Formats: sequence, structure tokens, C-alpha cells
Amino acid sequence: MKHIVVLISGNGSNLQAIIDACQQQRINGTISAVFSNKAGAYGLERASEANIPAHALSPADYDGREAFDRELMRQIDAYAPDLVVLAGYMRILSPAFVAHYTGRLINIHPSLLPKYPGLYTHRQVLENGDEEHGTSVHFVTDELDGGPVILQASVPVFDGDDEEIITARVQHQEHAIYPLVVSWFVDGRLEMRANQAWLDGKALPARGYAAD
Ligand code: GRF
Repeated sequence: MKHIVVLISGNGSNLQAIIDACQQQRINGTISAVFSNKAGAYGLERASEANIPAHALSPADYDGREAFDRELMRQIDAYAPDLVVLAGYMRILSPAFVAHYTGRLINIHPSLLPKYPGLYTHRQVLENGDEEHGTSVHFVTDELDGGPVILQASVPVFDGDDEEIITARVQHQEHAIYPLVVSWFVDGRLEMRANQAWLDGKALPARGYAAD
């Protein structure tokens, strides 16, 4: 059984989707622990509810980003994870953290990367009048939201949409694609090689897996 560690900062709806997929054996792995940089994150309750060890570390207790990440790595490594999943983890990672988990560290970002890295993606989509929006699962590299894309899902934007509606529409897709990508990884089908994502021995295109 492969071991997964999930990092969150908030609601944890993507964490919940991964918990559900593990319980339903759509993912052949187990979530060994959940870590949050916010003690009040609702996702910690979701983890406890599922009998998964849930830990909160407060950045204020550490002398800078490197020291915080060092302790986080120490605690994560106690679970010997095969895969580390960022699921709404709203904190910049130190280069040492990224280097330590490279190739087994994935993130979900609410835009059709490379469009809109960073924050406030839904707002930018609405302000720019885009007709299409979406979400991307990618391997994490040192470039913020810039690592190789594994899978994207797009959603339409309709007249009259507001941030709340479009966020819900995007998240609905996230809850489908993130567990799927995790399952590919734990089944040994997915890897990062030479800064590119590979699925079943084939290099994926820049926008990730696309069904024929
Ligand atoms: C998701 O929309 C994800 O794309 C972004 O943060 C959000 C987290 O939501 N990185 P949740 O905590 O999983 O509900």
C-alpha cells in the first residue's frame, strides 16, 4: 500500500475527495497524515473524522521559512510518504522542501495553467471576460505554479457568473481530477522526468493528459 501525506491550509474539500477515493478503493493507497499551517483549518477535522493523524504547525513558532519547512519535512518524513499532495496549501515552499520531494510532490491550481499562476484566479477570469476557466494538477517545481501539468479540466464561464458560482464549478471538477491523478501516481503510472510529466511511459503534452 502506498503512503500519501496531504498538506492543507483551509476547508479541505480536495482532501475530502481524496479520502473518499481511498475509502472507495479508487485510490490504491492510504493517507498516512494531514498537515496544516493553520490550526483552525476545517480540513484537520475532516482528517480526524476519517481517523487520519492531523497535525498543525504554526509558522509563528519558527525562525523563518527554512526552519519551518525543515521541521515540516522532519514530521512528514516520519510517515515515509510515497507521495506528498498539496491540497489548498497556501504557503510558499522553500527550495529545500521542493528539492527534497521533487517527483513525488503534486499541487492543484485553480486555473488553466500557464494562465493565471498565483492568487485570485477566479476574479481575473471574470474581470478579463474569459469564456473558459478550469483547474490544473501539476508536479511542483521551484517555479510558482509552473511545474509540468499532468491533467486539466476546463469549465465554461457564463454571463452573470460571480466568483462564488465559478469557484464551485471549478471545485466540482477538482474533486474528480485530483483523486484520479493521485491514483495514477500510486499505481506507478505517473512520473516526472526531465521536468516533464510522463503517463504510462509517454511524455504528456504541455497542458497535460488529453483524451483522444
Ligand atoms: C482549491 O480550489 C485549489 O485549487 C486551490 O485551493 C483550493 C483549496 O480548496 N489550490 P479546498 O481547501 O480543497 O476546499
